[in-house]
Amino acid sequence: MTPPKTHMAAWEQLNPLSRKLWDQSSRLIVGGGQAHKRHVRYLARGGPGFFTHAKGAYVYDADGREYIDYLLGYGPIVLGHCDYEFNAIVARQMTQSGVQGGEHPLEIELAERLTKLIPGAEMLMYLIGGSASTSASLRVARAHTGRERVIRCGYHGWHDWCVPASPGVPADERGRILDFPYNDLAALERQLETHRAAVAAVIIESVQDDGPAPGFFAGVRELCDRHGCLFILDEVKTGFRFDLGGAQKLYGIQPDLSTFGKALGNGFPLSVLVGRRHILEKRSDCYCSATFHGDPIACAASLACLDLLELRDGIAHQHRLGRRLIDGLNRVFKDADFPLRMEGHPAMPNPREGYVGEPARPLPSGWAGRCAREWFAAMQRNGVFVNWHVWFLSTAHRAADIEATIKIARKAVKQTCAVMQRPSVD
Ligand SMILES: Cc1ncc(COP(=O)(O)O)c(C=O)c1O
Repeated sequence: MTPPKTHMAAWEQLNPLSRKLWDQSSRLIVGGGQAHKRHVRYLARGGPGFFTHAKGAYVYDADGREYIDYLLGYGPIVLGHCDYEFNAIVARQMTQSGVQGGEHPLEIELAERLTKLIPGAEMLMYLIGGSASTSASLRVARAHTGRERVIRCGYHGWHDWCVPASPGVPADERGRILDFPYNDLAALERQLETHRAAVAAVIIESVQDDGPAPGFFAGVRELCDRHGCLFILDEVKTGFRFDLGGAQKLYGIQPDLSTFGKALGNGFPLSVLVGRRHILEKRSDCYCSATFHGDPIACAASLACLDLLELRDGIAHQHRLGRRLIDGLNRVFKDADFPLRMEGHPAMPNPREGYVGEPARPLPSGWAGRCAREWFAAMQRNGVFVNWHVWFLSTAHRAADIEATIKIARKAVKQTCAVMQRPSVD
């Protein structure tokens, strides 16, 4: 993806080294890298291009600037970047054994730990990456029910069955997949009635927007039971952030299968499919095997991550700081009458279009979205790494980082209002 020409001059001036690296990567790497998620449009407005190192709550770009990081690798970094104690434990395991052709006792130790922590986990299988865990959950559900259709809700990764839209996906694969909107039980019921006896599973990204409406997940459970299909909870983002037992522990959700990744390994790409024994114990016939599944280094990383989260009271810390961040930013937006607000659970602050505490106000089409994008770009120029994605916190973030972020947010609102040719309010 090439940035718009109008922004090139500013980008080159602010980020000469990132600019050079971008030219090189675009020649060699498809799309220049993970451009679909790394938002070159922000880079083009002076945001960071390439990061060379990261420590604690901060990332550093190739041109030497520091950013408070609320994307944290899009979720996995829950202890902060390059945590000393975490790295020491992982390094010790590296001197003992990486991946080899047999099983390793750490796989059992981690399985025991996870089955104690997560209410819906009686057995598990190891995978690599969230997409592999959600795809494995479908394979298991199809084998268990002998049915092929799946009803999905939310983002579940990049594989054929769930990618939002992409050339190269076979039409018949997408034909087996149906969807429904979050918190809409009536829509789910309609899908189940229409595809009666053909649905293997309902898979739902556990927390979207403001989280589950009262009775939503109990209703999903009841509908799945009535229609003889499995209920899969996708906890790839929420796992080890909402609670050590996942969003299912916090909200009392009762899935048959659940998927975890991201924060499970604090940066190591381990993921798991967990679930009920009566379903999983028969499913060694499902081929879900790959070279790096159950890698002892990733298992050691995950055990270290869980230990340190417990030791540092990491969940409560994220929730405390997340609350402060959401409230502080909403004060900034309200004071300036700026059309953006922070919502969601404090574990996963969620930027949304619209005025704080108000129903939708009539606005020119797309204006609030343009304001938000300009504001994200201004935040990046001023040293806070955020964009239009849910945000995350880590045990490395401090109250001072939150206060600094709120101060920068006020400055970024003023800069944005100037760009959007609308007066800011002091
Ligand atoms: C809810 C959810 N499920 C699945 C995935 C896919 O995980 P990965 O990108 O590790 O393959 C993601 C990734 O963002 C996710 O947020």
